[in-house]
Amino acid sequence: MIGRNSALVGLLLACQQYATAAPTWPASTDDLEDIMLLNSGYRARGFATAVTPCSAAPGPGRIAAAEWIRAAFHDMATGNTYQKTGGLDASLMFEIKSSENIGSAFQTTLTTYAPFLSSRTSMADIISMGVYTATRSCGGPVIPVRGGHVDATQGGSIGVPLPQNPISIFKTQFDRFGYNATEMIQFTACGHSLGGLHQVNFPDVINQGVFPNDYAVMDTTSTVFDNRVVTEYLDGTTQNPLVVGKSVSTKRNSDYVVYNSDNNVTIAGMRDAQAFANTCKTMFQRMIEIVPSGVTLTDIITPYEIKPYDLQLTLLDGGSKINFTGDIRVQTTQRPAASISQVQLVYKDRTGAAASTPITATIRGSASGFDDTFQFYSFSAQLSAETSISSFSVVITKTSDITETWDNNGAGFKVDDNVIYQAPQSCLDASGKLTVVAAARNGTVSPNLKVVVKNPRASPIVVPALSTATIAMATQSAVGSYQLYFASYTFSGSQAQSAVLGVSAGSSSDNYKNASSLSNVCASLSTPSPTPTPSSSSVASSSLIPSADSTLDSSSTSMTMLTSVLTTPASTSSTGSAASSSNLPTPTLVSSSSEFATSTTTLPSSSSPVSSSTPIPSFPGYDYTGCVNDSSSDRTFTAKGQIADTNSYESCAAFCSGYMFFGVEYGTECYCGNALPPFAAPYPDSECNMPCAGNRAELCGAGYRLTVFKSLTLYPAPSNPAISGYTYSGCYIDNVNVRVLGDSFLFAHDMTVPMCAGFCAGKKYFGVEYGEQCWCGDALGQSGLVDEWECSMECSGDQSSFCGAGNRIGVWVKD
Ligand SMILES: *[C@@H]1O[C@H](CO)[C@@H](O)[C@H](O)[C@H]1NC(C)=O
Ligand SMILES: *[C@@H]1O[C@H](CO)[C@@H](O)[C@H](O)[C@H]1NC(C)=O
Ligand SMILES: *[C@@H]1O[C@H](CO)[C@@H](O)[C@H](O)[C@H]1NC(C)=O
Ligand SMILES: *[C@@H]1O[C@H](CO)[C@@H](O)[C@H](O)[C@H]1NC(C)=O
Ligand SMILES: *[C@@H]1O[C@H](CO)[C@@H](O)[C@H](O)[C@H]1NC(C)=O
Ligand SMILES: *[C@@H]1O[C@H](CO)[C@@H](O)[C@H](O)[C@H]1NC(C)=O
Repeated sequence: MIGRNSALVGLLLACQQYATAAPTWPASTDDLEDIMLLNSGYRARGFATAVTPCSAAPGPGRIAAAEWIRAAFHDMATGNTYQKTGGLDASLMFEIKSSENIGSAFQTTLTTYAPFLSSRTSMADIISMGVYTATRSCGGPVIPVRGGHVDATQGGSIGVPLPQNPISIFKTQFDRFGYNATEMIQFTACGHSLGGLHQVNFPDVINQGVFPNDYAVMDTTSTVFDNRVVTEYLDGTTQNPLVVGKSVSTKRNSDYVVYNSDNNVTIAGMRDAQAFANTCKTMFQRMIEIVPSGVTLTDIITPYEIKPYDLQLTLLDGGSKINFTGDIRVQTTQRPAASISQVQLVYKDRTGAAASTPITATIRGSASGFDDTFQFYSFSAQLSAETSISSFSVVITKTSDITETWDNNGAGFKVDDNVIYQAPQSCLDASGKLTVVAAARNGTVSPNLKVVVKNPRASPIVVPALSTATIAMATQSAVGSYQLYFASYTFSGSQAQSAVLGVSAGSSSDNYKNASSLSNVCASLSTPSPTPTPSSSSVASSSLIPSADSTLDSSSTSMTMLTSVLTTPASTSSTGSAASSSNLPTPTLVSSSSEFATSTTTLPSSSSPVSSSTPIPSFPGYDYTGCVNDSSSDRTFTAKGQIADTNSYESCAAFCSGYMFFGVEYGTECYCGNALPPFAAPYPDSECNMPCAGNRAELCGAGYRLTVFKSLTLYPAPSNPAISGYTYSGCYIDNVNVRVLGDSFLFAHDMTVPMCAGFCAGKKYFGVEYGEQCWCGDALGQSGLVDEWECSMECSGDQSSFCGAGNRIGVWVKD
């Protein structure tokens, strides 16, 4: 049927020209493309749900779409395009407690985004895609999005433009992240098309009790991405609190100040709706393309015409056949689904020769995004293992008899049969033990199993950290042209639910499999002919797990049987292949990359306590502080944390290097802090009795019990230095709502307490906050005094002094 109608060659050529402009599969952005396009229907990712419709609200007087755009802005706005630092890098997740990120919007947004984080899609990619999704859901322009953003590993500097700033500061801030004075006006107007302000967060701008829910909108269409914010300003009808109202008297009517900064010339240029949309598209695209040096973004993501999903080869019993399954997504935006009569895969065998029979796919479901629709077609075919497959093209036959051939821009859709993940032989048991079996074609180097898990980070960071473990797979048995391999891995907690695994050998791989979809029993795979051993069965088992004819208790769990195979001599097995696997090498850890190093083979055999006479822990260079309590909702140490199966005093002390305290908990957990908070209560040493996962000779706390050590070498510990003529008065709550000191301020990357005292000379009070902020005043604003340990962030310019913390100001008063 292919090319049957030669009159249609011209049309086919036109299609193929379009094809060359289309993305080539696979791409690093394949997962992000799904997040962008599959809003509803079959395989829907549902990313847009939280902002659909545009008015969707996470709480009273809130608009999620506005919060998503604001989250990107706050994440980007601490960037520096001159130094090429920061930008759109998800550093926001570490900056939640910053006084610049007041309110719960950012935490809500990041919590919504967190499940979309994967080894393929960074949090910064998701924050960028959130700008497209929120804008589009509200009827705004299509913001071009690129992938390849890289997540920061710590918070960036401060510097988000806030309403109380004077115009000179605004200009400097926008210039720092790459927007000139004209673009500052445009960007501000675009950013304020949606949503509004909460009185509680902006008490200087809005009076209490004036607006419903104490929430003031920026224009009369706060849930439509349009230019009303501009036209109402120009027409003098605006109720935008940043233009009119209370903020006029306090000079914090920042939108007025910004729009009027070039006598309304630029803002008047946005009166036209199309001009507004075009400008906002550019402004928002720029926002999500500001990245630190070393980060290269991908091409702009555009929908594939044809995209394969879950292509899977599976070696079948006997080893002579391979099951080939998957889905093909066909874009139906311009090509109505009803116009398609057939979708087929025309494939080449492993030598590159054309196979004679195409594989026909059948309709599976449809899906849609904001601007596109798709139809999915599923297929399942059994191929000869000998000739197998190397690539395919997709041929679409239309009801009009036109055929379209899609060959992935000439490359074909590649299918690699060198290493295959064997899902039926793999399993995940109730205890969290994963067993993965792979088949590697004869002549392929032995494969590795890669497992990517998500680990929760210490509060208040809601975005988990990814860690990758790579485990060498051990030989299992030969089946036809393939050699089977296996490896196992033990998940802790709820890791299995979101874990993704893959197998690879050399340049071949079979990736992105969900651990959670595995059965709890590993099936066996039989070889075609009997092995030269006495056996009651004509088909000897070559499976990882001995088959039922084994003398092993068949009622025990598969993993128990595996253990028996691995550790018990051949005497227990009646099959030759099982006997030959009795001296299997134990899978070993090859490498482990990430903040959370993980291994599978070094786990303590149980998490049960050791003997009751607990020795007093000791570690060179540290004093043992004691055994204290901890809770997951309110961590004793919040500076840093990691969970690793290699956890020990050595590894935790190294991880917490530079911090006054390190604490180990529940065998695998490690936390760092500069102060032991008073709510950490001491418990008997005997309650911290779990062996460390990485060194069973050491004790690493227990469930909610931390074994705490204090550094002997970090000296002097940071303190509040004596300033002549002043007395330290305490640590106060401070934030944008309630400024303790507000007459003048200085932000500096080399802040010290004496620098602040000098800057505030003449004032009755001075205070330091968040490491690098200095505030002055003659009167103390209404605030609460809190425990001293809460002001324990080191000064950016002097590690031996404390300079407050996020929303905490350390205050000195003139004698
Ligand atoms: C800002 O940049 C734009 C585009 O390059 C330019 O048209 C505009 O004149 C610039 N504005 C200022 C104030 O430099
Ligand atoms: C700019 O527009 C605002 C709102 O209409 C108006 O109050 C202001 O006077 C204008 N500025 C100038 C310089 O015309
Ligand atoms: C091939 O895979 C499909 C999809 O998983 C499954 O339904 C089918 O039973 C498999 N065929 C064989 C022979 O195992
Ligand atoms: C594959 O290798 C195994 C041994 O590793 C061998 O027994 C088997 O015959 C080989 N199969 C083919 C088709 O070469
Ligand atoms: C894997 O999990 C993701 C996320 O839960 C889901 O979208 C996808 O369909 C799953 N894939 C398979 C093959 O089960
Ligand atoms: C430790 O226990 C005390 C009192 O039993 C409790 O008030 C405190 O919240 C606990 N601390 C943590 C971190 O759970």
